[in-house]
Amino acid sequence: MKKIQISPSILSADFSQLGNEIKKLEKGGADMIHVDVMDGHFVPNLTIGPPVIKALKKQSSMIFDVHLMISPVHKYIEDYALAGADIITIHPEATDDLNSSILKIKELNKKVGVSLNPKTKIDTITDHLNKIDLVLIMSVNPGFGGQKFMPEVLIKIKELKKIREKENLNFDIEIDGGINFDNSKEAIEAGANILVSGTTIFKSNDGDIKKNIDLLRST
Ligand code: DX5
Ligand code: ZN
Repeated sequence: MKKIQISPSILSADFSQLGNEIKKLEKGGADMIHVDVMDGHFVPNLTIGPPVIKALKKQSSMIFDVHLMISPVHKYIEDYALAGADIITIHPEATDDLNSSILKIKELNKKVGVSLNPKTKIDTITDHLNKIDLVLIMSVNPGFGGQKFMPEVLIKIKELKKIREKENLNFDIEIDGGINFDNSKEAIEAGANILVSGTTIFKSNDGDIKKNIDLLRST
C-alpha cells in the first residue's frame, strides 16, 4: 500500500502571513503544499498566480502540489513550472488537447496530475493513465474551500485503484474537497493515498496544525 500523504491547501491559510503559514505546515508534518490556482473563469473564484508561488518557494523546501483551475491552461503551464511547481495538476475540460498538455508538463520535468470534477467520468482519462503521476479526484465542485464532501465520488477512487492494479500502473490517487476527520478514513479505504485539506487543517482544534495533520493521517 502507498504511504498516506497530507497535502494542506493554503486556500484556508492567512493570506497576509503565507510564508509563516507554510513554515507551520512544514513543522506540523505536511508532506507537500497544495496550491489552489483559480482564474475567475474556469471556476468562479480568483486566487494566486506564479509570482506568489515563486516567492513562497523560497520559504520552503517542500513539494509544491499546484492545482490549476484555469482555462485555457496550456499556455500557462510553463509559467507555473518556472515558478517552482513540482506537481502540476490540470483539468481535462481546461485544455483543447489533454495529451499535449500532459506532454508539456513532462517535458518541463514536472509530475503530471489530472483532476476529475465530481461529474467528470474516468473514461475521460483512461487512455492517458500510463503517462500520469497523479489523479486528483474532486470531492466538491472546485472553486471554494469549506464545502461539503461528496461521498459519491469514492466509487471513482475504487475504480481507479482497480485499473491501476490491473494495468500495473503506479499513479497516486489524491482527493480534494471537504476532507475532515469523519471522512478521511473512507477516502483512504477507497484507495486515496494523498489527502488535500484546507478548512480541517487550518480551522479545527483551534488551528493546531500538527494535531490536525496527525489526525487526518491516522483516522
Ligand atoms: C477547491 C480546492 C480545494 C479545497 C480544499 O476548489 O481545490 O483544494 O478548497 O479546501 P477544503 O478542505 O476546505 O474543502
Ligand atoms: Zn485543490
